[in-house]
Amino acid sequence: MTREEKSVPVHCAIIMDGNGRWARKRMLPRILGHRAGASALVRIVRAAAERGIRYLSIYAFSTENWKRPKTEVLGLMALFRSYARRKVQELAKENVRLRIAGRIDLFPQDLRDLLEYAQKETSFENPRMTLIACLNYGGRQEILDAFRRIREEGYDRELDEEAFRRYLYLPDIPDPDLIIRTSGEMRLSNFWLWQASYSELYFSESLWPDFDENELDKALSAFSKRERRYGNVQLGTS
Ligand code: IPE
Ligand code: IPE
Ligand code: MG
Repeated sequence: MTREEKSVPVHCAIIMDGNGRWARKRMLPRILGHRAGASALVRIVRAAAERGIRYLSIYAFSTENWKRPKTEVLGLMALFRSYARRKVQELAKENVRLRIAGRIDLFPQDLRDLLEYAQKETSFENPRMTLIACLNYGGRQEILDAFRRIREEGYDRELDEEAFRRYLYLPDIPDPDLIIRTSGEMRLSNFWLWQASYSELYFSESLWPDFDENELDKALSAFSKRERRYGNVQLGTS
């Protein structure tokens, strides 16, 4: 195994940002930016699996995105519907498992049904890669939801990090090693707040619809050069 292969992130997370600006640059409606973004995602899912990434999580709709104009929110729901319908077989063929993180109970029932079906159809025991779609996801919401469940259960044992984690949306998924955000914005916008405590962050100037295999490789190469210390001293100096 080469050094490069060894340092591929197990879990790579992406904040797909810049669809609106991509459309505006072309004088197109924002929803066409989201459509171009969805095509970029299809390419990146394939590329990530080819590079040996085991978990790819993508931030597709935040708990704050409901604030957007109604037409844009409806357009995004329509896009999720169309992808959930059309891409299940492709994911299944590629042995990619789809999982959802977020409050999709607040999505329209037909879309929820499609997403449930897609998860069921791809629930492989040993998938080549797991694709985690973060839909109506908010990090603070997730932590609050965990806390509510803990309280409802009347939990009275020792509550440490490991015990708390079991109440998160997808407790079995390892924390993201690398979080990529496109479009030059440098913030988390409520993404994976609990899980991001030791994630490496990488910011790309590319707008999401322009983010391609080459950009992904740049991010992976930067990641492979990072030294992760987790609060410890630099390796080799102790
Ligand atoms: C990200 O692109 C996609 C979603 C939030 C759904 P934006 O729509 O945020 O694009 P910009 O930031 O306006 O360019
Ligand atoms: C973050 O992007 C959410 C998603 C990519 C789904 P936003 O465009 O919504 O974030 P802000 O508003 O710029 O922080
Ligand atoms: Mg944005």
